Amino acid sequence: MALLPILLTSAHAAQYRALMLQAYADCPDAFTSSVADRTGLALGWWKQRLSGAPDANERVWGVAAGDALAGVVGLSFDKREKVRHKAHLFGMFVTPEFRQRGLGGELLAAALQHARTQAQVQIVQLTVTQGNRSAQALYERHGFVEFGLEPFAVAVAGGFVAKSHMWCRLGWSAG
Ligand SMILES: CC(C)(COP(=O)(O)OP(=O)(O)OC[C@H]1O[C@@H](n2cnc3c(N)ncnc32)[C@H](O)[C@@H]1OP(=O)(O)O)[C@@H](O)C(=O)NCCC(=O)NCCS
Repeated sequence: MALLPILLTSAHAAQYRALMLQAYADCPDAFTSSVADRTGLALGWWKQRLSGAPDANERVWGVAAGDALAGVVGLSFDKREKVRHKAHLFGMFVTPEFRQRGLGGELLAAALQHARTQAQVQIVQLTVTQGNRSAQALYERHGFVEFGLEPFAVAVAGGFVAKSHMWCRLGWSAG
């Protein structure tokens, strides 16, 4: 069975919500949002994120596995003229049973491919928790480079974690 990323729509809102709540619960150090932040949001909030409307600021890709999603990643855009050249990658998560098969790479490639079709976008940025080696290595393989380290970026159970800020110029090619 081919596990390929698709652009999610509001019809996937319930599965997307379930997967992200799992992600926030399983990997509290990896995400800025928490279960408490997101669990009370109505399904309409998740549908809005996936609306795909022409003027929407966000797009989310997912890999379907049966009735559930095995992985997701999102891209957000800023319409303000001084910063519309930068898109932001967010919410990268692959369920443990589907890791190490290239899904994370496929999701990242789909998001970057879409970013390349947006004439105004020249750069994709993201943040990754310091020490999250598998995520950082994945981003580096796809052309991301660290440009700064933000100390005390996120409060977690054990204290604070730093976030590595990474960027990728869209002209870059792995080939
Ligand atoms: C980071 C994360 C998204 C990576 O997802 P993934 O699907 O395992 O990613 P990939 O399979 O594309 O790549 C991961 C590894 O599998 C290897 N791999 C890729 N394709 C493969 C294949 N076909 N067969 C076997 N291994 C493969 C890669 O070499 C890579 O190795 P490494 O981790 O030792 O560097 C996943 O680990 C995850 O969800 N982590 C928790 C949440 C998180 O940290 N999110 C990032 C927030 S910034």
